[in-house]
Amino acid sequence: MSQLEIGHVYKSFGENNVLNDLSFSVKEGEFVALLGPSGSGKSTLFRIIGGISQPSSGKVMLNGENITGKRGSISYTPQSPSLMPWRTILDNVLLGQEIAGKRDVQRALQMIERAGLGGFEKSYPHELSGGMQQRVSFIRSILSPQSLILLDEPFSALDEFTRLDMQKWLLSIWAEYKRSILFVTHNIEEALFLADRIILLSSRPATVKCEFTISFERPRDEAILLSDEFLQWKKRIHQAMKEET
Ligand SMILES: Nc1ncnc2c1ncn2[C@@H]1O[C@H](COP(=O)(O)OP(=O)(O)O)[C@@H](O)[C@H]1O
Ligand SMILES: [Mg+2]
Repeated sequence: MSQLEIGHVYKSFGENNVLNDLSFSVKEGEFVALLGPSGSGKSTLFRIIGGISQPSSGKVMLNGENITGKRGSISYTPQSPSLMPWRTILDNVLLGQEIAGKRDVQRALQMIERAGLGGFEKSYPHELSGGMQQRVSFIRSILSPQSLILLDEPFSALDEFTRLDMQKWLLSIWAEYKRSILFVTHNIEEALFLADRIILLSSRPATVKCEFTISFERPRDEAILLSDEFLQWKKRIHQAMKEET
């Protein structure tokens, strides 16, 4: 059964048509990448799915319930890590749970440790690097009670080495916690390395161009990045991006 169902979503800002009849779905436990060029409307779509903004028309359904324009049903992580500067790392991590009315400090501390951030529980966000702050944002999402997590280009600001580490870390956490993830990126390799399925968006106004099912075995190792099959996939997706719809 599909967990998330996006049905005929349109969005315009005045004359600027940004989303044009977008429909797709995400299944329980699936890792889906939403791949599209910069400025195509990916963050706009995410704000609509997260209930932060209203579509001009169309629907967002979660487990059969209409959640269009409703916040809190999905764990939404915006494009830049939105940590609260006046809260410690531990208190930032616990935020998603607090909103839901429960605090599991033990589990939060375990996750902080697993993320390689042991010893930083009482630090403040400005004392951490960009990559470390990203990890804190993730832990917060993973520990939130919602079963679907939206991540908006979480690694785009990181250098290539840190990014690969973070991708591997995300996959290991996802394998353990089995949440559904909808992950926005403009990076073809990143989408291929992470996702079960790639939904390719056109440039603005964004619509779904096509979908690809990516069947690289899991757990995925970085060695696949150098395989012929990976290169073939990259070519195929490049080609599809260039084609007119
Ligand atoms: N609040 C807003 N008001 C007016 N225009 C907006 C607003 N948010 C986004 N846009 C426009 O929507 C388009 C897509 O932006 P965005 O969703 O951020 O793209 P992406 O995340 O794919 O890079 C841009 O042309 C941007 O100017
Ligand atoms: Mg964006």
